[in-house]
Amino acid sequence: MNVCIVGFGAIGPVHAEVLAQIEAVSIYGICDCDREKANKGAARYGAKTFYDFSDCINDRNIDVVHICTPHYLHFEMITKALDSGKLVVVEKPAVMKSSELDTLMASYDVSKVFPIVQNRTNVCVQRLRELIVSNYLGRLKGIKGILTWNRNADYYNSAAWRGTKKYEGGGVLINQAVHTLDLMIYFAGEAESISASMQNHSLTDIIEVEDTVNAYIRFRNRAVGIFYATNAYSENSDIQLELDFENAKAAYVHGRLYINGEMVCSDDKSFSGKKYWGNGHLSILQNLYANNSSFCLADIKNTMDAMFAMYESAEKGCPVILQK
Ligand SMILES: NC(=O)c1ccc[n+]([C@@H]2O[C@H](COP(=O)([O-])OP(=O)(O)OC[C@H]3O[C@@H](n4cnc5c(N)ncnc54)[C@H](O)[C@@H]3O)[C@@H](O)[C@H]2O)c1
Repeated sequence: MNVCIVGFGAIGPVHAEVLAQIEAVSIYGICDCDREKANKGAARYGAKTFYDFSDCINDRNIDVVHICTPHYLHFEMITKALDSGKLVVVEKPAVMKSSELDTLMASYDVSKVFPIVQNRTNVCVQRLRELIVSNYLGRLKGIKGILTWNRNADYYNSAAWRGTKKYEGGGVLINQAVHTLDLMIYFAGEAESISASMQNHSLTDIIEVEDTVNAYIRFRNRAVGIFYATNAYSENSDIQLELDFENAKAAYVHGRLYINGEMVCSDDKSFSGKKYWGNGHLSILQNLYANNSSFCLADIKNTMDAMFAMYESAEKGCPVILQK
């Protein structure tokens, strides 16, 4: 597979580092409108340099594009790449608006779009999911997910798209906590109704989006979900997930899975990128390219719907019922 990485800012180089370890893949191109970044990346990986996305999709040698650009570009880049016959790997959030998701689901072959849900392939996540699917733990009654990270003014000032509704689509929820929400949905299933509120506690003069979100989720399987995420903490601490089952209590914290207080397994400690991003880029891309198994856009629709429902609920100030 000839791959072109589009966007070589913070996460693009993580994709390159990981792809370089996968035999089935050749890093064919690096594309960034910032010429210096494109040149540097291409030189490092012996790849072709692109400065313009349309040149990538017109290059017949490219099989897959990895979209690692700001959120507002994802939808347009996905559709253009699919229209040109490419496969697409896209960073989170796959798209920024629910209307974009609807268009993709209705009019495109979304089995060709592979979103990066890198925490799903963590050892502990896979183990817990097996226990849930086999019904070993009994009915899920409740789940809580907590993310407390720090994003300061320097982070938001580092790129013009950050912290803006128009270009980022939101704040802590759409950018940082969407992975935690994804795990909650992966474990608990489809949400039926969501009530959320959002605040900007710490960066009022700096960003126009939320730095904090809290939500109450009722799942279709009758479980309740409590979700809290903030970028206003003092550091980037490990996420915490707790699950209350009929037969046991499970906790996923510090990369370890505990059942009734006993450690069952721990995640692979080798990682690419920052520790608090999680270490799943290698396993998710290995699954895709070497094991021919991965998650496509349809597999994360429930997560995206829940995320968009949180924004809608916070904006309207009332609970939102999700369509089946
Ligand atoms: N999965 C994760 O753990 C993780 C971590 C960080 C970022 N991300 C996601 O990755 C994406 C990029 O985030 P980032 O932090 O790397 O952003 P960034 O601003 O650091 O990098 C984005 C890059 O895209 C380039 N770019 C912008 N417009 C372009 C265009 N039209 N054509 C080509 N290149 C263009 C910019 O020059 C920049 O180099 C976002 O969707 C973000 O949410 C995911």
